[in-house]
Amino acid sequence: MREGYDAISINSGTVFHSKQIAAAVNYQGISYMPQYEDDAHVVKRDWRNLTPEEINRLQPNGKQNDYNTVYLGDIPEKLKANFQQLTLGDSKNRDEVMAKLSADAEKTKELSVNLNAFLSTLSKNKPFQFHCIGVNFPNIEMVACDTTKLPSGFKPQDVKYMGMHNDGTTQMTIHSAHKVGNRISINLGNDSRGFFFVNLSMIQAINMLKQKMDIKKNNVNIANIPGFFFEHFPDYPVIKVQQKPYQYYIAPTDNCFHDGSTLGNTTLDITMVYFGGFQY
Ligand SMILES: [Fe+2]
Repeated sequence: MREGYDAISINSGTVFHSKQIAAAVNYQGISYMPQYEDDAHVVKRDWRNLTPEEINRLQPNGKQNDYNTVYLGDIPEKLKANFQQLTLGDSKNRDEVMAKLSADAEKTKELSVNLNAFLSTLSKNKPFQFHCIGVNFPNIEMVACDTTKLPSGFKPQDVKYMGMHNDGTTQMTIHSAHKVGNRISINLGNDSRGFFFVNLSMIQAINMLKQKMDIKKNNVNIANIPGFFFEHFPDYPVIKVQQKPYQYYIAPTDNCFHDGSTLGNTTLDITMVYFGGFQY
């Protein structure tokens, strides 16, 4: 197996959310069964290693760039030490994470210098910008959710997870989603986390859908394409990348179906996310 590919596995596709029993979430005295949005599709659990042929098929057509490649790597040792000093992974909730990030101005300063230097080396053709600190409970199979629709003071059990999705916003279309760059997400928790993705661009996905349905009549767009795609292609495999603590992934999350996972974890999931045009 080629170097690095032991971090990835493949499955036999996706199922409509109601067809697979979700794992219960139970953390810090809060327990609930995850709910999904109406058209959500979730990953099947028959993960296996990739064959050499599948690894070959995952290589990009032509040169690697910021919209056709998913990267996995380790952050520099110095930066890792900066983060480790903050012991973010021992936090029980978002407030603790944020408090630890800003508790010591000197340490924060040093960290941000090293972080900016690191991101600059990966940022090729677009400026990068901070997006968010993501915090998820452990043992959530598909973590993405849109909490902006919920009233303030919502409870974790009120969240509806969206399943496999693309991040595209109303400012982009299926045909422009590859132009907006990508994201880097650094795992700052104590547990490994999963990153799921489908190796198709939005344009490839819509071209496949065209063979199955009338995309004009059904008004297939950047927001509803995942529901249609997974309904028509339930057997299209998903790739899972195992992202260890202090590893990063880079992915064009506007241009591919994806999600994150904390299934099997026991500690708080913490990620730091920047937008840009990252590659190496
Ligand atoms: Fe996403």
